[in-house]
Amino acid sequence: MIIDRFRLDGRTALITGAGKGIGARIATAFAEMGADIICVARTQSDVDEVAEQVRALGRQALAVSCDVTDEAGLAALIDSVEVTFGKLDILVNNAGAPGKGYGSLKKVDKARFEHTIDINLTSAYTLTHLALPLLQKAPEATIVNVSSALAWMVDRNFSAYAAAKAGMNQMTKVMSYELAPKIRCNAIAPGAIETPSTAFITQNEQMLNDTTRWIPMGRLGQPDDIALAALYLASPASAFVSGKVLEVDGGMVALPGSAIQTTLAMSAPEGQ
Ligand SMILES: NC(=O)c1ccc[n+]([C@@H]2O[C@H](COP(=O)([O-])OP(=O)(O)OC[C@H]3O[C@@H](n4cnc5c(N)ncnc54)[C@H](OP(=O)(O)O)[C@@H]3O)[C@@H](O)[C@H]2O)c1
Repeated sequence: MIIDRFRLDGRTALITGAGKGIGARIATAFAEMGADIICVARTQSDVDEVAEQVRALGRQALAVSCDVTDEAGLAALIDSVEVTFGKLDILVNNAGAPGKGYGSLKKVDKARFEHTIDINLTSAYTLTHLALPLLQKAPEATIVNVSSALAWMVDRNFSAYAAAKAGMNQMTKVMSYELAPKIRCNAIAPGAIETPSTAFITQNEQMLNDTTRWIPMGRLGQPDDIALAALYLASPASAFVSGKVLEVDGGMVALPGSAIQTTLAMSAPEGQ
């Protein structure tokens, strides 16, 4: 059956930022489709909870507290994956945030800028580099990077985050070329998705209306929307797709995206 090509039976998937939001849903969605999961985030209790949900779905889970900006921590993480599972088929570089680099050009100095690049771009490069020996041993490994619509949208206050995510998109393309045909590498560029990081939108009716006004589908995305895209890119269903950035944003590409981002920029707390 063609639907079976979306299954992940027998595969092991490492997902960063899997404590909540998009990453947590990718973890449980992949488990539903048959994968064993390594859940990574800084807050141990969050990854423990998601790992429990994975086990309740009948799959194995490992919950690891790790800051993706800590190279030694990432190396230890890969060691523990090797010891526990002996293999890795899927890597999802999802952890990310506007970080300290969110804010005006006047406010954001080099250290703040680099903080944001580190969380969103350098971490994904470093973990991919460290995971490569395991991925190369897998019969058909896949890498999925979670980017952002802000890689192409233009607005104030997001210089660092936008640069990091645009860098991630191009890095995805170069890596895919270098790693083909054994390993596929793709990215997803989400629009506004309802997660804890966008609670400042969903908890304010005016802002929610202002935001959805610019989304043709008339709603914010849900973590399910991104998890389904990740499933497609991580599974054999996308066997002939590599080096691509899949936009999952409710159709915002057709609209003046900076309008919604102006709303966000005026309202988001700086330096989270
Ligand atoms: N939500 C959106 O509208 C949206 C739109 C475009 C792109 N994205 C991208 O989608 C990804 C997930 O976003 P989200 O909205 O699901 O975020 P979220 O709800 O804030 O969840 C982020 C997860 O990543 C973890 N994390 C953050 N920094 C980390 C670090 N340094 N090391 C390890 N784990 C870290 C967090 O846990 P700890 O804090 O415990 O570490 C948490 O589990 C991000 O890359 C984001 O840039 C989101």
